Parts: sequence; structure tokens; C-alpha cells
Amino acid sequence: MQTVHDLNELRAAIAAFRAEGARIALVPTMGALHAGHIALIDAAKRAGTKVVASIFVNPTQFGPNEDLARYPRREAADSRMLVEAGCDLLWLPTVETMYPDGFASTVSVAGVSETLDGASRPGHFDGVATVVTKLFNQVSPDAAFFGEKDYQQLQVIRRMVNDLDFAIDIVGVPTQRDDDGLALSSRNIYLDEEERAKAVALPRALGVAARAIARGIPAEEAAAEAQTSLVAAGFTVDYVTLVDAETLAANPGADRPRRLLAAARMGQTRLIDNIAVTLD
Ligand code: PAF
Repeated sequence: MQTVHDLNELRAAIAAFRAEGARIALVPTMGALHAGHIALIDAAKRAGTKVVASIFVNPTQFGPNEDLARYPRREAADSRMLVEAGCDLLWLPTVETMYPDGFASTVSVAGVSETLDGASRPGHFDGVATVVTKLFNQVSPDAAFFGEKDYQQLQVIRRMVNDLDFAIDIVGVPTQRDDDGLALSSRNIYLDEEERAKAVALPRALGVAARAIARGIPAEEAAAEAQTSLVAAGFTVDYVTLVDAETLAANPGADRPRRLLAAARMGQTRLIDNIAVTLD
């Protein structure tokens, strides 16, 4: 695996892939890799492309009171995992490369960015859309792979790619979970043993609520029950909401693809998860 820190080197490496006639897939990450990221690399490899992974802890998607400073950084271990997974190139830009002095542009995706995490984390999706646009322009991939765990992020990126005519296939990869069902996340390492044990209530509550909605129980009722069980398990709930799986609009009809999304805090750690609501 080639590792590059410099934009000119990256462009030369991409040109060499293109000269071989290769298609290129991008897997953007913020590092602290786990099996969820490796599933993205595997999916990209199965698509028969050269795989470029990026690691960049993007400061513009963290709010002032969020965990930018303590976000886990494990470059050497990440690099070993990527080699083992068969990644072809690791792009490790610096903050100065991504946001040089005088940087003044923002990509903002209205609508789909504004609710749920967009409401709880103002500016978060502007930071994501801006950095992903830069990564797309730097790597010029044919496809890019994102985890469904960050479901709203995936829909924001799909909207942006459509709106701005990026010729890039956006592939969503199902959430990878621990044996007990907790979605893998780089932030799970913040949980102490007791919090980790309680955190399983999140996927469980979503599963129960999704099945209830599929049986015809009103979504507000099922979501309220999920909230009650999350609070009983020790969570502070931000939202549990049923939305249209594509537009993220509230109150979707039963004839639409639907997704139940939740965000809740266990101690200092904010966890998100989501589940498709399918009719039995
Ligand atoms: O999902 C993430 O890790 C980040 O939001 C992303 C897409 C790499 C942008 O910084």
C-alpha cells in the first residue's frame, strides 16, 4: 500500500492507476478504524477497483464543545489494518492541505442536512459536505463507499452528488455490529465497561420499535416507547424518529421506504443508530 501526504503525490498516484485502466474507489474515514471501515474496503475491493482510503480528522465537522481534541488517532494501527485489507493507497492529508490559510468556501446541503443530527450539531453536515467535496476533487474516484450507520450523512452525500453532478457512484454499506448488536463506531472506545453493557439497549429499542411500526403501531407511539426504554437503560435521548429513507422527511407514508433513526447519549458518549422499517 502506498501512503501519501502530499496532494501532488496523490495526483501522480491516481494518474498511474488511471494509466493502468483501473477504476478507483474512495473510502473516506477519520481513522480509528474498526471492522465497519474494513467492510467498506472489502465492498470496494469486490467492486473490482483500486481502493483509496483517506484518513483525516476533519475539524470543520466538530462543534466547539465536541470531541475533536480527544478523537482517537491511531495512524500506525490503521495503516496496518488497511494493508491487511488490501487497500491500494492511503491518503493522509494535513489540516494545512485541506484548509490552507484564507480557505473561505463551504458546501451546504439544505433540507436533508437540517433535521436530526443537523439540528443537534449545527454546522456538522456543512463540514462533512465540504471535506467530502474536497476529497472527491482530490481523488476523482468512480465510486465512494460510506457506512449506513451514519445514515443521514449518507443521504446528505447522495443529495450533494446529485445536485452538483459529481460522476461518482455512492455506495452505502450495511452497519457492522458487535455480537450483541451494538453498531461499531470509533466512538465506542469512550464507553466504560458499564456504559458499554448498557449501550446495547439502543439497537434493541430500535429493533422493537421498527417491528412495531411494521405491524401498524403508530410511529410516534413506537418511538415514545423506544425513548422510555432508552431512558430506563441510562441513555439521555436526543431523538428517535421515523423518516422517509431517501428524503429524511418526517411522517413518511407506509408506501415509502422508511428508516427509524436514533441518537442518544450514554454518559459523555453520543451514539447514533438506525434501522430499516420493512413490512413483514
Ligand atoms: O464518516 C466519517 O468518518 C466522516 O464524516 C467522513 C465521511 C470521513 C468525512 O470526514
